[in-house]
Amino acid sequence: MGSRIVATGRATPRTLITNHDLERRMDTSDEWIRTRTGIAQRYVISSGESLVEIAAQASQIALDRAGLKPADLEAIVVGTVSSDYGFPSFACQLQHRLGLDTIPAFDVAAACSGFVYALSVGDTYMRAGEWSRILVLGVDALSTMVDWGDRATAVLFGDGAGAAVLVKENGPRGVLGSMLRSSGGFWDLLYVKNRGVQTTMDAEVRRPNDDAITMKGPELFKIAVKSMEDVTRKVAERARVKLEDISLIVPHQANLRIINAVAQRLGLGPDKVFTNVDRYGNTSAASVPIALDEAIEAGRVHDHDLIMLNACGGGLTWGANLIRW
Ligand code: UT7
Repeated sequence: MGSRIVATGRATPRTLITNHDLERRMDTSDEWIRTRTGIAQRYVISSGESLVEIAAQASQIALDRAGLKPADLEAIVVGTVSSDYGFPSFACQLQHRLGLDTIPAFDVAAACSGFVYALSVGDTYMRAGEWSRILVLGVDALSTMVDWGDRATAVLFGDGAGAAVLVKENGPRGVLGSMLRSSGGFWDLLYVKNRGVQTTMDAEVRRPNDDAITMKGPELFKIAVKSMEDVTRKVAERARVKLEDISLIVPHQANLRIINAVAQRLGLGPDKVFTNVDRYGNTSAASVPIALDEAIEAGRVHDHDLIMLNACGGGLTWGANLIRW
């Protein structure tokens, strides 16, 4: 008994910010951002916009594609670190927005690995026979946590939501296995204080730097490459799948150079790796499900393909899910 993703959906805020827009705000250049990260543009949430609403849009698209109604769901698991509230959880707010009541709804806080973690949690509950139709999301708005005066972090992040409908499935298709890893010793490579910043780019409020996202980029870069390679190999090994049999890797979209380095170490060519970091930036937990949704739309995912999702983020956390589509 296992679970299968039967539909996905994605949604972003309305405001598109290009590298050229950022050039006008801070000492940076389109050339630096493109060559060091691969990012050309990102969507950022504006004041008055609601991340819960954006997550609800992504959820509704996924539900419509699955031919299901919110009332068919038995649980909501959200990978996020972007709830407006310390509590209630983002998942509870989304549950209410979707008009649901009493089904379990909870967040999984694993920063950029949030969706990979949430999918593993959802799949494990379904293997245990607990649920048969659930919604798993990755949702984040890290643009609300950066210091817009800090070019080292401000140019990297975008906001959005990706949703997947997971149904119980007996048979060869579905999530074959997941592996989750964390290393709290590296917590200070990427962090933000709880209740840090919490404003939108357009609000123009200058705030103290010490509560914004802090990142040791180059150190994180090296660990991200190694950890994503390692966990991908191990998940494949455990499922007795050869790396060359993987049809597509849908990795966390933090930096094109990280994605390329991981692919190279795994011996996989560009045709086997999906990237959209150029158009979204690093959307944290939303990046894997948004990329998966786009990969499906682009015809890069076929029935029975072996698809690998992998991610690394603040915590540090990292992990991978191997799926027989
Ligand atoms: O999503 C969770 C996982 N996230 C990651 O894994 C992120 C990992 N790290 C990275 O992707 C990269 O380290 C960054 C993109 C964050 C930075 O790239 P880098 O090549 O490691 O640059 P750096 O931090 O070593 O900075 C190189 C130079 C510095 O100038 P000096 O000291 O050499 O004169 C920076 O001040 O680039 C400068 N710089 C910038 N210049 C123009 C840093 N940010 C910018 C900027 N525009 N936005």
